[in-house]
Amino acid sequence: MIRKIILEGDPVLRKVSKEVTVFDERLAMLLDDMADTMYKADGAGLSAVQVGVLKRAFVIDTGDGLREFVNPKITKSSGTNKIKEEGCLSIPDRFGYVERPEHVWITYQDRNGESHQDKLSGYAAKAFCHESDHLDGILFIDRATKIKKYN
Ligand code: CO
Repeated sequence: MIRKIILEGDPVLRKVSKEVTVFDERLAMLLDDMADTMYKADGAGLSAVQVGVLKRAFVIDTGDGLREFVNPKITKSSGTNKIKEEGCLSIPDRFGYVERPEHVWITYQDRNGESHQDKLSGYAAKAFCHESDHLDGILFIDRATKIKKYN
């Protein structure tokens, strides 16, 4: 099911999302809906807060399939990402130049509550950092060195 994406200016995007403690059918439905909503909007990532749910969860597809992250954490990062441009489904009229790490070491849970660890690089690392920020109420415009309007 497609959900409504909350746009910048709505105070909910500035809230800190809460740890997920219940891994039930509702969470599964939320993650399914987030993926539907992200693909419909042609995005590479979407956090639960962007559909108004203050849970620490997001979905990403940076070109190699859908990935779901619940209670994600960055434990270590290194390098500087070569991709500078960054956009957000909640800020559809602008993009910005944001510095992100090239590599991130992460821990997260899946929709069943199983714990995982992984290392992401490049675009995936950038998307992971962007979505992690959403969970703490941070938007790319807070970090951007330059912000431009789409023509
Ligand atoms: Co965003």
